[in-house]
Amino acid sequence: AKLIVNASSGRPIPETLFGIFFEEINHAGAGGIWAELVSNRGFEAGGQNTPSNIAPWSIIGDQSSLTVSTDRSSCFERNKVALRMHVLCDSEGSNICPAGGVGIYNPGFWGMNIEQGKIYKVVLYVRSLGSINVSVSLTSSDGLQILATANIVDSDVSNWTKTEVLLEAKGTNPNSRLQLTTSRKGVIWFDQVSAMPLETYKGHGFQKELIEMLEDIKPQFIRFPGGCFVEGEWLRNAFRWKESIGPWEERPGHFGDVWMYWTDDGLGYFEFLQLSEDLGARPIWVFNNGISHRDEVDTTTVSPFVQEALDGLEFARGASDSKWGSVRAAMGHPEPFDLKYVAVGNEDCWKKNYRGNYLKFYDAIKSAYPDIKIISNCDGSSHSLDHPADYYDFHIYTSASHLFSMTHQFDHTSRSGPKAFVSEYAVTGKDAGTGSLLAALAEAGFLIGLEKNSDIVEMASYAPLFVNDNDRRWNPDAIVFNSSMHYGTPSYWVLKFFRESSGATLLDAKLQTNSSSLVASAITWTNSVDGETYLKIKIVNFGNRHVSLKVSVDGLGLNSQLSGSTKTVLTSSNVMDENSFTDPNKVVPDLSLLENADKDMNIIIAPYSLTSLD
Ligand code: AHR
Repeated sequence: AKLIVNASSGRPIPETLFGIFFEEINHAGAGGIWAELVSNRGFEAGGQNTPSNIAPWSIIGDQSSLTVSTDRSSCFERNKVALRMHVLCDSEGSNICPAGGVGIYNPGFWGMNIEQGKIYKVVLYVRSLGSINVSVSLTSSDGLQILATANIVDSDVSNWTKTEVLLEAKGTNPNSRLQLTTSRKGVIWFDQVSAMPLETYKGHGFQKELIEMLEDIKPQFIRFPGGCFVEGEWLRNAFRWKESIGPWEERPGHFGDVWMYWTDDGLGYFEFLQLSEDLGARPIWVFNNGISHRDEVDTTTVSPFVQEALDGLEFARGASDSKWGSVRAAMGHPEPFDLKYVAVGNEDCWKKNYRGNYLKFYDAIKSAYPDIKIISNCDGSSHSLDHPADYYDFHIYTSASHLFSMTHQFDHTSRSGPKAFVSEYAVTGKDAGTGSLLAALAEAGFLIGLEKNSDIVEMASYAPLFVNDNDRRWNPDAIVFNSSMHYGTPSYWVLKFFRESSGATLLDAKLQTNSSSLVASAITWTNSVDGETYLKIKIVNFGNRHVSLKVSVDGLGLNSQLSGSTKTVLTSSNVMDENSFTDPNKVVPDLSLLENADKDMNIIIAPYSLTSLD
C-alpha cells in the first residue's frame, strides 16, 4: 500500500472539531468528577417526603442508644428535610454510650478515598436544644481505623449553626467513611453535611486526576449536562438549571430517573460553565425543551420552558447587574461565561412537539442572542432539515465493522445548510465489551472520516465519557474510575491521537491500496508552546494482517527537520483486549523514535492498530 501526502497544501480543520460530551450517567459527576465525598449530604434522597431516604447514611449504635429519623425542620427552604438524632445514652449514668459514641456515618460513593497528608474540609449544619459534643471523623469502613478526627463542642446551637472543620488524614484508605458521633444525651439535628478535599482542580471543586485526563486530550468544547439526563424519563425529574445554582446548601437535588440515581446537584449549571472555562473548552449547553422520554409539553404551553432557557442564557452571559447575571456574579463569576452554543433537547426529533417547540426556542434565542449557535436534534446528514439550525446532532452507537465503514458517512452529505455535530458516537455491544481495542480502532477510522469531512462536520465527541465502576449504567465509556483509581479505555487513548487536529490543516493524503481495512489522514498543526509546525500522519489498520506501507511526503519545506520524528502505536496482542484496574496500561499508545524518518519511507503497520507518525 502507498500513502502520498502533500504537505504544501491543505484546508483548515475547524477549531472546534474534537471535544467532549459530559453526561451525569454512571455516577460520572456525583461520585465522580465532582469532588464531594458525601453522598446524599442533605438527607434528601427521598425527595421532599418524610420519612426521607437517608441512604447511604447508616447508624452507629442500636435502639437502646439512639433513634434516627428525618423531619422538615431544615433552615433551607428548598430542601427542608433534616436528620434528627435522638441520643438516649450518655457518658455517665445508667445508659452509658458504647466506646467511640453513637451517631451516623456516610460511606460516600462506594467508599471515600482518604489519603495521608491531605486535608479535607467538612462543613455541616447542626442544631440542638442542649450543648453538643460531636466528633467528626474520617475512618475506615468498619470505623476502627481513625484517619482524622475533630470535635465540635458548642454550648449554644439552638439555631441552625454552620460548622466547618479541617481534617488532615494520618493514613490512607480508599474505602473510608465520614462519621458524626457523640456520647452526650439529647436531640441533635444535622443537615447539609459536606466533605471535600481541600485541593481540587483549579480550586473549583473538581476531582483533579479525572479532570487532568480531560486536559490531556485538549477538548475544544464540552457538551453538558447530558443526553437522557437532560430529558428525564418524566419531565418532573429532568435536570433544571435553576435548581442547580446558588449556594450548594440551598440546592434541592434531584433524582435522575433515566440513570436512576439521586444527585445533590453540587455539580450544577454554574460548575459546568466554570469547568469549560478552566479547560479552555467552549461550553455547549443542552437544555430541556419541554420533552422527556415519556411526557411532552404542547407547543402552545411551552413558553415557560423557553423563558427558563432565556434565563439560563442571561445567567451565563448577562451583565453582572442583570437579574440572572447578578446571581452568577454572587457565585463568584462577575464576568460573563463564553456560552455560544446551545442544543434544544436531546434525541427528540421524532417526538410530536419537537418541531413546534424547537421553533419557539429558536426564535426567542436568536432574537435575544443572535450570535448563539443553535443545535437541532434532527439529523440533516441524509436530507435537508425542515427548520432553521446552525448545527444538527448526529448520534451513532453501533458495531465495530459498521462504525469503521462509516468513515465515509459524510462524504456525500450536502455541503449547504447546517453543519454536523457528531455529539455522541461509540462502538457498543459485544464488539466493545467494557472498552476493547477493536471498538477503539473502529472509532479511530470513523474519526479520520470526520477529519476529512470537517468542512461539514464541525464538532465530534465520544459518549459516554466517564463510568464509576460501581455503577455501570452504560458500557463502554472512555474513562473508568472508582474512589481511588482510574484508567482510560482504548477509546480514550484514541482521542489523544486527535488532540492536535482541531484548528490544524488537513493535508491531501492519497491512500493507494486494495484493502478496505486501511484508512489514513495527514495534518499539519502549530504547537503554541514552541511556535513550530508539525506534520502528523495517522493510519488505522482494521485488518488482521501486517501492512507494508510506503509513505511519501511531498512539498516539505527546506527547513523541515525529520530527525526526532516519532511513531506512536495503539495496538495489543488480542483485538478484544481491554484495560482494567489491575492492568490499566494493557492497551495504551506506545511511543518510539521513527528511525527511518524520510520523505519516502517504508513503515510496517501492525494488524489491528492505530499508528501516528509525527
Ligand atoms: O450516551 C448515553 C446516552 O445515549 C445518552 O444519554 C443519550 O443521548 C443517548 O441515547
